[in-house]
Amino acid sequence: MEMLRIEGGTPLAGEVRASGAKNATLPVLAASLLLDEPLIIENVPHLEDVTTSNVLLAHMGVGVTMYDNMALAVDASTIVRCEAPYDLVKTMRASILVLGPLLARRGHADVSLPGGCAIGSRPVDIHLAGLEAMGAEITVEGGIIKARAGRLTGTRFAMESVTVTGTENLMMAATLADGDTVLENAAREPEVVDLAQCLVAMGAEIQGAGTSTIRIRGKSRLHGARHRVLPDRIETGTFLAAAVATKGIVTVSQTDPALLEATAEKLAATGARIESGSDWIRVDASAQRPRAVNIRTSPYPGFATDMQAQFCVIAAVANGTSSVTETVFENRFMHAAELERMGAMIRPEGNTLVITGQPTLTGAPVMATDLRASVSLVIAGIAASGTTDVRRVYHIDRGYECVEEKMAQLGAQIQRLPDKQPVGSTVAS
Ligand code: EPU
Repeated sequence: MEMLRIEGGTPLAGEVRASGAKNATLPVLAASLLLDEPLIIENVPHLEDVTTSNVLLAHMGVGVTMYDNMALAVDASTIVRCEAPYDLVKTMRASILVLGPLLARRGHADVSLPGGCAIGSRPVDIHLAGLEAMGAEITVEGGIIKARAGRLTGTRFAMESVTVTGTENLMMAATLADGDTVLENAAREPEVVDLAQCLVAMGAEIQGAGTSTIRIRGKSRLHGARHRVLPDRIETGTFLAAAVATKGIVTVSQTDPALLEATAEKLAATGARIESGSDWIRVDASAQRPRAVNIRTSPYPGFATDMQAQFCVIAAVANGTSSVTETVFENRFMHAAELERMGAMIRPEGNTLVITGQPTLTGAPVMATDLRASVSLVIAGIAASGTTDVRRVYHIDRGYECVEEKMAQLGAQIQRLPDKQPVGSTVAS
């Protein structure tokens, strides 16, 4: 086990490059299962979740070759096993993304049920209902989703609530179905659009990705393609939030500011100055302590739940009282108790945290519980005075590429150390 030790009190300053988006890479990797030719994926971030996906693909017999410059070639022509075992699914819920492609191309899939996770119960009932509407027969036996189908048939399916990976799973399945599929109440996240662009490069016919109605015309086969993953808007937003929490000046390059509207609006509401160009964005928060800001998470284009924990840190050091309301996940406030250990004043009220900003936080040993909670503790450690040890750092490695190198590049005093104290088992998020 490892931990991150941070000597806080330094405003972040400088420039850092955005990595490829984790939540776009994972579905694109799964999309390779629709092909019997290679898919070349560029701008792949070096993350634990990507490694887990590659292990899962390799378990199925898929060939994964790594090139320089963060590119992967994935060749599913050699697939021998259409299954995702519990050991892999339990460490990464996004493994459920293989269900739709396997079923569509191979007619069968055995995928372990993900179950609960650190941030809520997170069922996959909508994924399954959509596949059933396309003609699949699905049973759950011994914790394994067993899905069978001849060729899937196109259908009109309205998702009961907005689900990102659910939309992605069904969109992938529909590309090889017989006839047209219309997905209603679809997720509009940029990562859904990125996946659609990859599928179109593979020969799929898709309209409306990025809106709440997606139309897919099924094809009998798709072909090999090359796709470049879009920049990580959450990683970008994380560095910008860190700039505000530490009263710094940070530029993120090789990113897409157009994907960050809701985040940028709230960063500006703290009093920070925001500038951007076509592929960069800068926050200057050096002039004053951030102002309190109220946020409410919702599906895209609303304020991302994946940015909520980072904004809790801004609120914890802001001038005034902020409210942070989580509407997407039922249990995504585990960072609150850890931030309180660092001197944050937080009062939970149902799915809202009322946070009264303090002039300073103080370093403390804290425990990471999920990916975004972990990074919020890193930001808090950089903003605080004194030493913070962030333990269970494996959560952060799942979704942030070289986080300590990037933070150090911006001037943070941060190092990775061995952590000899025993900790519990991994939970997926
Ligand atoms: N939901 C259902 N039934 C379903 C599917 C979802 O009730 O069949 C509920 C969930 O329990 C949740 C809500 O719908 O309350 C939204 O969940 P969604 O399915 O949209 O989440 P996800 O697809 O599992 C993705 C990201 C998450 C991100 C959410 C919301 C990936 C691989 N994961 O998860 O990313 O928080 O969308 O934007 O794309 C992260 O990166 O830290 C992370 C957790």
